[in-house]
Amino acid sequence: MQFETLPGFREFYPESCARRNHVFGRWRRVAKAFNFLEYDAPVLEPLELYIEKSGEEIVGQLFNFEDRGGRAVALRPEMTPSLARLIGAKANSLKRPVKWFNIGEHYRYERPQKGRLRAFYQFNADIFGEPGPAADAELIALLCQTLQAFGLNASDFKVRLSDRDLWLLMLAAEGLDAASSARVLGIIDKLERTERSKTVEKLAAELGDEAEAFLERVEAATAIRDFDALRAYMENLPLEGDLASEARARMADWEDLLRHLKAAGAEDFMQIDLGIVRGLAYYTGFVFEAFEASGEGRALAGGGRYDALVKKLGGPDMPAVGFAMGDVTLVDLLDGKSLMPTYVQRPDFIAVIGGAPERDAALADAAQLRSVGYQVEYPLKTQGFGKQFKAANQSGARFALIYGGDELARGVVKVRDLGSGEEVEIARDQLLQQVPGLLEGGLS
Ligand code: HAM
Repeated sequence: MQFETLPGFREFYPESCARRNHVFGRWRRVAKAFNFLEYDAPVLEPLELYIEKSGEEIVGQLFNFEDRGGRAVALRPEMTPSLARLIGAKANSLKRPVKWFNIGEHYRYERPQKGRLRAFYQFNADIFGEPGPAADAELIALLCQTLQAFGLNASDFKVRLSDRDLWLLMLAAEGLDAASSARVLGIIDKLERTERSKTVEKLAAELGDEAEAFLERVEAATAIRDFDALRAYMENLPLEGDLASEARARMADWEDLLRHLKAAGAEDFMQIDLGIVRGLAYYTGFVFEAFEASGEGRALAGGGRYDALVKKLGGPDMPAVGFAMGDVTLVDLLDGKSLMPTYVQRPDFIAVIGGAPERDAALADAAQLRSVGYQVEYPLKTQGFGKQFKAANQSGARFALIYGGDELARGVVKVRDLGSGEEVEIARDQLLQQVPGLLEGGLS
């Protein structure tokens, strides 16, 4: 009987592992360039952590079960609730702003399809302790530079920017209370993926006869693409008193955010799009998602502000903003643009060994070379020279280290450049000193 992997789970043969590590390497490099610190958290968590905090959509996709101790547990579908707990527990001793990142596997019981699996990696980056738009800008800039680090540019991806605060103001202007607003936002979140008539039907449950006219106003808002139009739209809303001053303050935040993004070189990637609402329950302010510029495919990344979550998980009041980028849609996009390098791992040296005493010498030299970081291979079983040279040529190694009885007696090893066929002899006790020159300059 042959066992297969579970649907939506991947195996990583060395070549795929090298591709995966390329992605992880770039993620880590850019996060460090922004001075984010790496952290980690358990993959298995109490189920409770995700109920309510993450929102209905994710809870419906949990891998959850009862462990042998009778605890209700779940494989993590996302990092944010674990991270908010970690931060909450140490909030007072952490130097603010806290800028942390993680690369880890996450699990969602979704229908496996293009861009969506049941086990996938995310690069999470979050900032805690800074309420102003400078933190949102820092994260969006990190998101853009990360995608750029793979060779993607403004014709390849866009970051769609929206704001749940603005939506709440717009819905308040429509006379909706908080509970109704939350339900309506859920409907707006699915606008693009739902037939229009279905949307009107769902809105009618909240708004009655007003549903159609309301949807037209929502569509006018989601069609806005530049800041001047957004400002004009907000100025025309029938808001009074506190709500009117909140709206003005919020537009000042927008200006601040856009100025930061321009200065950080992210302007070309940005697209105002109030159609982005984000399905997760905890978002409170600016929200954003990165997509292929063509608009095709599932999101490359998503995030936003979640100022209430740390407190909700038992910590102090602590503003927070962050995003996560997935590996699946990213690699699909990079493959489509021929931006994934092909990695071939080859040894620097391969030993070709005469007999038993020579084998001991070869192993001793290999141990030395390996201890300082060179990649060294030798045959695990005794073979004739012919077979060994054939294997050496196929290995892709740069040099063969040839250990014969005669060389051993003279304290030398013969080094053959497997590209040119040239050979030199090097005293074995000089090998370590000679190797850097060999690798840089070859034998001549
Ligand atoms: P999310 O939008 O649910 O946000 O996921 C972020 C990214 O993870 C998506 O844009 C996508 O690239 C990837 N992703 C999600 N589900 C799957 C799947 N089934 N298969 C492949 N890739 C997937 C969050 O998870 C938030 N916790 C992000 C965040 C961090 N917000 C604040 N901090």
